[in-house]
Amino acid sequence: MILEASHVSCRYGGFIAVDDVSLALGDAEILGIAGTNGAGKSTLFAAIAGQQTPSAGRIVFAGDDVTQLAPYQRARRGLVRTFQVPREFKSLTVHENLMAAGPNPEGEQLFSALVGTPARRRRERALSEQADGILEFLNLARVRDIEARNLSGGQKKLVELGRVLMRDPRCILLDEPFAGVNPVLIDEICSHVLTLNARGIAFIVIEHHLQALKTLAMRLIVMDRGILLAQGDPQEVLDDPRVQEAYMGGVA
Ligand SMILES: Nc1ncnc2c1ncn2[C@@H]1O[C@H](COP(=O)(O)OP(=O)(O)O)[C@@H](O)[C@H]1O
Ligand SMILES: [Mg+2]
Repeated sequence: MILEASHVSCRYGGFIAVDDVSLALGDAEILGIAGTNGAGKSTLFAAIAGQQTPSAGRIVFAGDDVTQLAPYQRARRGLVRTFQVPREFKSLTVHENLMAAGPNPEGEQLFSALVGTPARRRRERALSEQADGILEFLNLARVRDIEARNLSGGQKKLVELGRVLMRDPRCILLDEPFAGVNPVLIDEICSHVLTLNARGIAFIVIEHHLQALKTLAMRLIVMDRGILLAQGDPQEVLDDPRVQEAYMGGVA
């Protein structure tokens, strides 16, 4: 197991957004999480990746308890996430956006100027090459020098993926990677995820787009109003009457 969440609960004030959810992710697994709006999926990601401290429960990553660690500390260990609404720097180019997401020994996530010591210049050069390699892989090389504000919704999702790849992750949490993305790019993103998975990266994918999720996920979890409603083989889970009911009248 690369990741285990045990009995995780998250509150916003008195409201329980995630209620005693446990899940485990295999070393090279792709796990899907579905569920209607407000089910608590993004909050669960925040608890796993560190943006939110759970009110109860434990997150274990690669054998270590990371429940109290900051997001950058988890990222350093190889646990990263994307956000439902992409968080690109709009006035930076695509390449600069990836550079800004790279590890920074002098202060995580701080974009250092391209000046300074020879050691820093070497590091910047290595980061730049890494960013170019990732842009090549994601078919984004032709928009390398375009400001991120000018990208399509799907391209922004790809940049979001590119940014987390800068951390050399072992596990990536994708929050609705297909929302607002055209069908051609959905296929492309799926194929990137499968390629990365074949290279040993584990994924959890939150998605409303159940068809795309079914093609990716080896196992599926459905959440509903904070609880884990069902989990198992994707088709079996989608056929579960309780899941059908939660989705109000059928999904698959
Ligand atoms: N920052 C917040 N403050 C208060 N309530 C929140 C906050 N974020 C989410 N919620 C509430 O928590 C519940 C779960 O939200 P979320 O995790 O975003 O669900 P999902 O991603 O499944 O749509 C929703 O009822 C939402 O309104
Ligand atoms: Mg969400």
